[in-house]
Amino acid sequence: MDERITRINTAASFIESRLEGRKPIAAIILGSGLGQLAEIIEDPIIIPYTKIPCFPVSSVIGHKGNFICGNLGGKCVIAMQGRFHYYEGYSMSTLTLPVRVMCKLGIKYLFVSNAAGALNPEYKVGDTIIIKDHINFMPNPLIGPNMDDFGPRFPDMTCPYDLELQQKALDIAAELGFKLHRGIYFGGSGPSYETPAEVRFFRASGADLVGMSTVPEVIVARHSGLRVFGMSVVTNVCNTENVERNFNDGEDVVQQANAATKRMIPLFTKMIESL
Ligand code: HPA
Repeated sequence: MDERITRINTAASFIESRLEGRKPIAAIILGSGLGQLAEIIEDPIIIPYTKIPCFPVSSVIGHKGNFICGNLGGKCVIAMQGRFHYYEGYSMSTLTLPVRVMCKLGIKYLFVSNAAGALNPEYKVGDTIIIKDHINFMPNPLIGPNMDDFGPRFPDMTCPYDLELQQKALDIAAELGFKLHRGIYFGGSGPSYETPAEVRFFRASGADLVGMSTVPEVIVARHSGLRVFGMSVVTNVCNTENVERNFNDGEDVVQQANAATKRMIPLFTKMIESL
């Protein structure tokens, strides 16, 4: 059997055996500094990644490594507290394994959040942006023999981010009294931040945000037909000119992401409640 499928099945069976019959309908990938959403999941079953056979382990600041399954907005969800990045050295197949595993568990929706740099000059630090599309600048995670049980060889990408969920987010944000932008996310490999010339290039491509995550997981989710909602927190504004100061630092990014959590918790909760 395909070694990738064996890993997916082994990890999924282990997690299933810990879920006491629970059937999560939605997965939430909690990005940099957004782990606090996990704290309001009711009646949680916590499964550390380190306990799961065939599972990778996360190494980045601000990241824990747990699955948390419980209720949010009255629905059974499974959250990933800590995700895997291409820049950490994982293969695309390894870093998207959790999404495959959650597909096996029967989820229908994937909610993702991340920290991103603003390319769009209208965005400010702390803004929360609905991801409406992306540009993939990393290797495609579907390269290799197609896993036919999950999806087609050439999956459509016309609408990677669900339009109904985007509208729902706009409506709920209006109800809650805050504004959301909608933007295009440029997914680069990192780990170095962008040079000003790259920032100008990415901006010219039509992107509004740049980050180092999310796109691989979304491609794999869409391969299996999951409905995806993505949100970025602007943690810094990208430089378009060479300056002698270093504006980007890892701790700063985590702090800004934490501040936006206060808006994202009720938004995500209400969105999941409405599924
Ligand atoms: N570039 C890439 N990734 C990021 C940034 C950035 O400026 N900020 C947060 N993640």
